[in-house]
Amino acid sequence: MPAGSKLEVAPLGALGAEIKAVDLARVSVAEVEAIKSAWYRHDVVVFRNQRLTDDDLLAFSRHFGTLDPPPNQGAGRKSPPGYPDIYVVSNVRDERGEPIGALGDGEALWHTDMSYAAHPPDASMLYALEIPAHGGDTSFCSMKAALTRMPKSLVERLRGLDIKHDGTYDSGGYVRKGLTASDDPRTSVGTPHPAIIEHPVSGKPALYLGRRRNAYVMGLDLAESERLLDQIWSYVETAVYRHRWAVGDLVLWDNRTTMHRRDAFDPNARRIMHRTQIKGSSAPKRASMLLATAQ
Ligand code: SIN
Repeated sequence: MPAGSKLEVAPLGALGAEIKAVDLARVSVAEVEAIKSAWYRHDVVVFRNQRLTDDDLLAFSRHFGTLDPPPNQGAGRKSPPGYPDIYVVSNVRDERGEPIGALGDGEALWHTDMSYAAHPPDASMLYALEIPAHGGDTSFCSMKAALTRMPKSLVERLRGLDIKHDGTYDSGGYVRKGLTASDDPRTSVGTPHPAIIEHPVSGKPALYLGRRRNAYVMGLDLAESERLLDQIWSYVETAVYRHRWAVGDLVLWDNRTTMHRRDAFDPNARRIMHRTQIKGSSAPKRASMLLATAQ
């Protein structure tokens, strides 16, 4: 705990930690350092009972790096007026019937944020302004844990492979603006990344997947790629933390070592979340260290 601070880190289980007794609107440099080291260790960190303006959210986010503008989404306005670096995730419509944000009220399947890009964000954070009474939970899975559960032969096979991360569809399943629907993973837009990457700070290896839809293992024929991807994806729920939101919660996740998904919720309920993304400091790097696996 930094001197003069009551900040406390309480692990949430196999993945994630809650950080208590800190006000993110008035965070000190020492507290930011303590938050970063908890985040590198636990991959997902949760803060409850925060009261943040959009300016506070931006200021806190900037402690982690330069901000990345919101992704190109298929439906919905992306940012609140005057805040181009904030991404509104919401099912709410304005007085003209236009969505104020993206992703609607449906389920969002497991994904890594913006991994269809050459330099995907290092991190994202999501702050809850309005939440439904039921549903809309966000779950996170550990891609470090997924790797440790895999048989050694599979890890060895994946070490030299690249997987293409599709950019056609957003997490809500909508075609991104300006793109054409495509269901051929070999030709759809996207970027190949190493199947196993190394975290630039901790050096720990992690499985690196974007979205299952339109993923493609480079160099394999389609049927073989699909078989291998199904096998790999069967490990992603090895360690999961599910977050039940309350207004004022902020969750920060490492986009290199976790994926996340969201439950659907009642379309008549309101859910408003503000998200920021921290620009990727580098392209995901192939893991070089010896991988410790369970078998
Ligand atoms: C996201 O995928 O960033 C949004 C998750 C959520 O709405 O809970």
